[in-house]
Amino acid sequence: IDIILTKKSFGEAGSKIIVEERIDGIEASYIALCDGNLGIPMATSQDHKRIFDNDKGPNTGGMGAYSPAPIVNEAIFNDVMDNVIRATVDAMASEGTPYTGFLYAGLMIDESNQVKVLEYNCRFGDPETQPIMMRLKSNLASLCIAATQGRLNEVTIEWDARASLGVVMAADGYPEKYIKDEKIELPSHSKNLKIFHAGTKIKNNNIYSNGGRVLCATALGQDIQQAQTRAYKLLEKVDWRNAYYRTDIGFKAI
Ligand code: GLY
Repeated sequence: IDIILTKKSFGEAGSKIIVEERIDGIEASYIALCDGNLGIPMATSQDHKRIFDNDKGPNTGGMGAYSPAPIVNEAIFNDVMDNVIRATVDAMASEGTPYTGFLYAGLMIDESNQVKVLEYNCRFGDPETQPIMMRLKSNLASLCIAATQGRLNEVTIEWDARASLGVVMAADGYPEKYIKDEKIELPSHSKNLKIFHAGTKIKNNNIYSNGGRVLCATALGQDIQQAQTRAYKLLEKVDWRNAYYRTDIGFKAI
């Protein structure tokens, strides 16, 4: 309350607070592509929101993510599809405001596998997208076009059965004050590995940091453990002096 109301860390957005029921559990992200009538699910994913290892410290946009998310078992997956995504898409259509686009439900799953929706975002998740994209075998553009044309009933999405994991490299100090404009040298890409850019810019053909969350080193592996090992090996090849990253992304799944 002191941070929000007195220090005004969120500016005017924090001028009022609402006290709500506390919800305990494990967070997961459930993202569906919707065409106004139908929603089709993306692969499951989970991110790590806290800045420090062991899920400690302040919340961030996400310091790393992986897919699939073992916490989202088949029963939870179907429950969310029926009672969250489909229910929302149906209700919006029946209210005359059909929803087309990515619908991202932030979920809290409690000890008895009860699911609550914490929030909806009308976008993909960052950094959940990076591991999800590594596993997507279908053409993303074709899927988006089918969604805008109300044709998702005609498509199936193909996924790589392997796991994927991405580690966010942030500017030291994030999510508080951090410096920008640091030169970064990247390793060359190889199969099953990819570095996604977020807060970067190009100056004189060189890459510089230009934000809080800057890169996401992402890898595919036979399981989350292997994807984790590969992602950290890739990250170690990035030459950037003041990078900060968590060292335990994926620990909950492993
Ligand atoms: N990773 C959390 C978000 O995209 O909102």
